[in-house]
Amino acid sequence: MLEQLLEQADQIMASAGAKIAQVNTNSALEEVRVEVLGKKGALTQLLRGMGSLSADDRPIVGKRVNQVRDAVERLLAEKSRNLQQQALEEQLAAERIDVTLPGTGVARGTMHPITLVLDDIKRIFTGMGYEVVEGPEIETDYYNFEALNVPKHHPARDMQDTFYILDDLLLRTQTSPVQARTMEKRQPPVRIISPGKVYRVDSDPTHSPMFHQVEGLLVDEHITLGDLKGTLQAFVREMYGKERGVRFRPSYFPFTEPSAEMDISCFVCGGEGCRFCKYEGWIEILGCGMVHPRVLEMVNYDAEKYTGFAFGMGIERIALLRYGIDDIRLLFDSDVRLLTQF
Ligand code: DAH
Repeated sequence: MLEQLLEQADQIMASAGAKIAQVNTNSALEEVRVEVLGKKGALTQLLRGMGSLSADDRPIVGKRVNQVRDAVERLLAEKSRNLQQQALEEQLAAERIDVTLPGTGVARGTMHPITLVLDDIKRIFTGMGYEVVEGPEIETDYYNFEALNVPKHHPARDMQDTFYILDDLLLRTQTSPVQARTMEKRQPPVRIISPGKVYRVDSDPTHSPMFHQVEGLLVDEHITLGDLKGTLQAFVREMYGKERGVRFRPSYFPFTEPSAEMDISCFVCGGEGCRFCKYEGWIEILGCGMVHPRVLEMVNYDAEKYTGFAFGMGIERIALLRYGIDDIRLLFDSDVRLLTQF
């Protein structure tokens, strides 16, 4: 009887060992545990069979059963650890990330060339004490023309081909209306620049129906043409470098008297003449002049006491020249391949 029970214990041990070695899921392992060690398991059954043994033999079987239980528990624990480790390795393999792969990268925006030029102009003039003010793009006939000494039917209206919205309402053709708008609101000294969009019926490789200008206005006592020239010269030096030559040519604008256009020596050839400056050596960059007394009177300034100068420049032209772009429409195509180059 004793021999039989001991042999049974060995069999349980052997079969448990074999099963544990075979299973590869936690639930299957649990089944083996219940089968061998559970309340109705093989070892419990075996202990029940001890009733018929002599008092001397019982401890022998008891001891063997305990050995088997310990051994099975160790095997179970070991297998459980192995399964856990295996699951972890599978998970790591599945979630593997190759950190050496190239990333997707975040596209960085760049400043538009017009913005870059405008920022430079603003920086230079605010450095000289000018304030930046803005005016509306939809403008009245009064501010766009009449307050600038261009009455109805005046031939100077043909200088700019205007988009009209109503008889009296239009898309401003220039930033000059900000002059009157500003002067109406304050007393001299006035020292402002006004950047913004303007509109004209015009479209070809060098003209866009919408483009940008910067207006400048300074009004105070004792302002002379010398102040105008000195200011614009200082601007050109800052913007284009000290070696840049400047010249003024007489011109006509209804709202200035005298009026001039300012050229700078060509920044490609330095004045020798090239394709860029059409072999002139000079490039026109702005219109300017002394504010016409009529313009001052219309905003109720005392034209005997105050004088001033004004200027206006196109931004696209400057941007095209600076960056060597040969078609103005490229600036407004929103093609990032072009825009990211600046
Ligand atoms: N408004 C003029 C234009 O669009 C440019 C201009 C010329 C503005 C002379 C001025 C100025 O303030 O004094 O052609």
